[in-house]
Amino acid sequence: MIKKGIILSGGMGTRMSPLTKAVNKQLLPIYDKPLIYYPLSILMLAKIKNVLIIVNKGELNQYKKLLPNGKNLGMNITYKEQSSPRGLPDAFILGEKFIGKDNVALILGDNFFYGQNLSNQLLNSVKLKKGAKIILHRVSKPELYGVAKINQQKKVLTIKEKPKKFLSDLAITGLYFFDNNVIKFAKKLKPSKRGELEIVDLINKYKKNKKLSADLIGRGGAWLDSGSIEDFYKTSSFVAAIENRQGFKIACLEEISYTNGWINKIQIQKAIKFYGNCEYSKYLSKLI
Ligand code: TTP
Repeated sequence: MIKKGIILSGGMGTRMSPLTKAVNKQLLPIYDKPLIYYPLSILMLAKIKNVLIIVNKGELNQYKKLLPNGKNLGMNITYKEQSSPRGLPDAFILGEKFIGKDNVALILGDNFFYGQNLSNQLLNSVKLKKGAKIILHRVSKPELYGVAKINQQKKVLTIKEKPKKFLSDLAITGLYFFDNNVIKFAKKLKPSKRGELEIVDLINKYKKNKKLSADLIGRGGAWLDSGSIEDFYKTSSFVAAIENRQGFKIACLEEISYTNGWINKIQIQKAIKFYGNCEYSKYLSKLI
């Protein structure tokens, strides 16, 4: 069982400037909560209690105001600063001590997942013992993403970053599951032409050893990565539409923790005090 997860929550957020000049992208709102609540909720649905959040140097205090140490959620949340955006595999170099001898999940801080059967799929993915698993989602513009071609047994045949010629319409999402070799592999990577360590190169190391599998989020599910202002707006509208129609919140951290049996009513009451008089608190009151 994978019991540890890393959220990559740094980055420059260049595409969203000037919004990201003073505030990190993952602290900006997707409708009624900060963006980082959504990827954190995904790890929590996978029953991962032990989380390392990687943030930009100098931005730690802002994060700690929002998510101090995880105790309020019945979790253990720690932080590590990244001095510059060296690329996604840097997570495993910075996280070496945190990972120790265990397997680990990685989620990008700006990725949003939603859908039926998602929790079951996550619980299945954390069973990974050896190799790596990537999560794919069909998109209409595959040339904008890293994509994977798979066979009927969901073994990955080819992966390519932003292919100019059509290869597959299955985009590689920002959620990955790795065995402990990931530390060793990440350390061996060389920066690409754009000067970053590339996740595709890391995944390719597993593919070469025939240790790479994939899972698909079907048409009933949604995956959105919130990299541009337009994405932020679309994801916010999506969350608003679902929450206002159903009366349930997406990514209410305390609710997930309560359902997981990690916290009790007393901690929910503390959370209500922490948030103060707002819609989110009203929702928490209704829970208990
Ligand atoms: P990107 O989309 O590559 O970068 P970004 O979010 O800073 O945006 P932009 O391209 O507009 O500058 O990163 C994807 C996610 O991973 C995002 O949540 C930031 C995070 N990230 C890090 O934390 N460290 C890194 O070294 C990189 C490359 C990304």
